[in-house]
Amino acid sequence: MIMHLTVNGQNREVAVTGATRLIDVLRNQLALTGTKQGCGVGECGSCTVLVGGQPMQACILLASRVQAPVCTIEGLDDRFTPLRQAFADHGGFQCGFCTPGQIMRAAGLLIEAPLDRLNDEHWLREQMNGNICRCTGYCGIAGALMSDAVQALARRLRQAPSAVMTAMSEIEN
Ligand code: FES
Ligand code: FES
Repeated sequence: MIMHLTVNGQNREVAVTGATRLIDVLRNQLALTGTKQGCGVGECGSCTVLVGGQPMQACILLASRVQAPVCTIEGLDDRFTPLRQAFADHGGFQCGFCTPGQIMRAAGLLIEAPLDRLNDEHWLREQMNGNICRCTGYCGIAGALMSDAVQALARRLRQAPSAVMTAMSEIEN
């Protein structure tokens, strides 16, 4: 069947069956290949995208069930540059395969998590533990999220959370 999805602010027409996964739509129909498939069974987090602002695993989400706007790594606007840069500055990736999923999970936290938890490294690591890095970049990832630049970004996003989500659903690629 044909359905419409809002992806990175664009209304996209896609063809799905009852078994089509969101990741297949993103990668194969919309050419949004930043979303990576690792395990394919919901265990590694490399396929994480935001659906209605919530981090979700696109490999176990049926496209036909998606009713909220989808944001992929390609859809994060310039406000999230400090997050991307922090991963680079703190060695938060090596091969980079898990990185889009890590960044989308982190973006979801920056948008929604209580501010006073975001500077708690133990809590942050627990929140991120569904995203596996085979290169064992966890110290670098934690360092990126604890950095002054990312903590400042969280505070800025918190000043206008609804504006962030509105903008994320209105981005033009
Ligand atoms: S590919 Fe989706 S959780 Fe591993
Ligand atoms: S950077 Fe290689 S899997 Fe995470």
